[in-house]
Amino acid sequence: MMSYELSHLEKKTLIALDSLEGEATPSEITRKGDFDEEAQVMNSVSWLSSKGLVEVEEKEKRTYSLKKKSIGKKDLPERIALKFLNKKGGLCSISELKEESGIGKKKTGITLGWLKKKNWARIFKKDGKTCLEITRKGKKALREKGKDEKLIIQLYREGKMDSSEVDEYAIKNLLSRKEIVNEDITITRKIRLTDEGKEIIKKGLEVRPEISQLTSDIIRTGAWEEAHIRPYDVKAFAPTRYGGKRHPLRRELEVVREVFLEMGFTEIKYDFIQPAFWNMDALFIPQDHPARELQDTYYMKKPKKIKVTGDVVDKVKNVHENGGETRSSGWNYKWEKDEAERAVLRTHTTVTTIRSLAENNQPPGKYFAVDRNFRSEATDATHLSEFIQIEGVVMEKSANLNMLIGLLKEFYDKMGFDDVKVRPSYFPFTEPSLEVFAKYGDDFLEMGGAGIFREEVTKPHGIEHPVLAWGLGLERLVMLRLGIDDIRIPYKNDLEFLREYPLL
Ligand code: DAH
Repeated sequence: MMSYELSHLEKKTLIALDSLEGEATPSEITRKGDFDEEAQVMNSVSWLSSKGLVEVEEKEKRTYSLKKKSIGKKDLPERIALKFLNKKGGLCSISELKEESGIGKKKTGITLGWLKKKNWARIFKKDGKTCLEITRKGKKALREKGKDEKLIIQLYREGKMDSSEVDEYAIKNLLSRKEIVNEDITITRKIRLTDEGKEIIKKGLEVRPEISQLTSDIIRTGAWEEAHIRPYDVKAFAPTRYGGKRHPLRRELEVVREVFLEMGFTEIKYDFIQPAFWNMDALFIPQDHPARELQDTYYMKKPKKIKVTGDVVDKVKNVHENGGETRSSGWNYKWEKDEAERAVLRTHTTVTTIRSLAENNQPPGKYFAVDRNFRSEATDATHLSEFIQIEGVVMEKSANLNMLIGLLKEFYDKMGFDDVKVRPSYFPFTEPSLEVFAKYGDDFLEMGGAGIFREEVTKPHGIEHPVLAWGLGLERLVMLRLGIDDIRIPYKNDLEFLREYPLL
């Protein structure tokens, strides 16, 4: 039985179709049913067809005509050339053809192409001249026109021809020439009642005006009391509509920002382009560290250098060379300011946290950034060369490793992951250092690094208190949150993916 309601227009369409023997074109239905416009019919037809009450058969009709009437009165250029060649006794040079045949210089190239394609003439070189010689096929063509030429004549006479009336090969050939024929494609539709449709009509359809959309007027005037109001069918078919929504990466980034803002952190922003000094030297990364090599770091051509000044430069230099005022003995090499002034695309957001602490070394210091970084790395299912890190620091008198681990776990817990592990690791700028892993299927996926800034990093800026620090991958978190297995997916901007990922 019917599990749906039919609208007034749908019923009218069914009835008109029934009186047209169950099969008709939209315009026949429009006339028969006395509709205001054909669009009303087409609209109900699409609903009726989704309900299985009618079928729509679409037929494509192609008609052809000459682009210009004059084309029918003239020979094709290759025929002009063929006649000319014949007049010359079956042999002529290309320059003669160009100058004397009347096809025009511009068309010579195309003409030669068609002569060759139709195999009407042979082209060869003789005494440095390019010549044409008529072939057997060419001679035959003098007596009988080709299918394409015959079709032009037919089109000239008839004006318009249907695809069923034209030679398939000839029309293809003419269409490939662009300036000769027009192709018009029209779609004709036949609407047919299905068995289910006939059944419903047999049972009788009551056609009465109805209200499908309530307006304030209908309520105010009391018209609703008289009229039939069409009930809503919440199970009715409807095409899927995809609303606009934030890009998943952007949305997740906002979630992360919210979490840190709620925990009382201040958001910080610094330029993508940094002197190596802040990206590396200030973080106690030695100048001969492999990560500085071209394979990992993008060095800028413009600007090539960014000046670094102030007494902090000497302090960092001393830390690298001999440990400076710290308890460390440093890396024991000669530190070069030139190297520190090379401009790089920052390779990690740790730049932002050390810079903000350098600008304000007094507690409480709680800063974070969710921002872009760049590395010259091959991309694969878990690596990107442009990626976003969730970076943060806490500077506090009582800060310690337990607090750091607790903080990281709390963050992931807020993001929906309670299965998080840490394990000891190494970074040049932290001691101790650790890596964070989150459960990913049956495995654990590395999410990023963390640690407590070394004295070599904090001392040059007069930072007196321990600094907990972390740098975590945003895209990996997004992978876990969206349940996808390739980190590149969110960057592909595949419409299907963007439409389907859940709104919440
Ligand atoms: N900057 C490191 C990287 O990009 C990640 C990192 C490790 C950041 C430890 C930190 C940290 O702040 O303490 O691999």
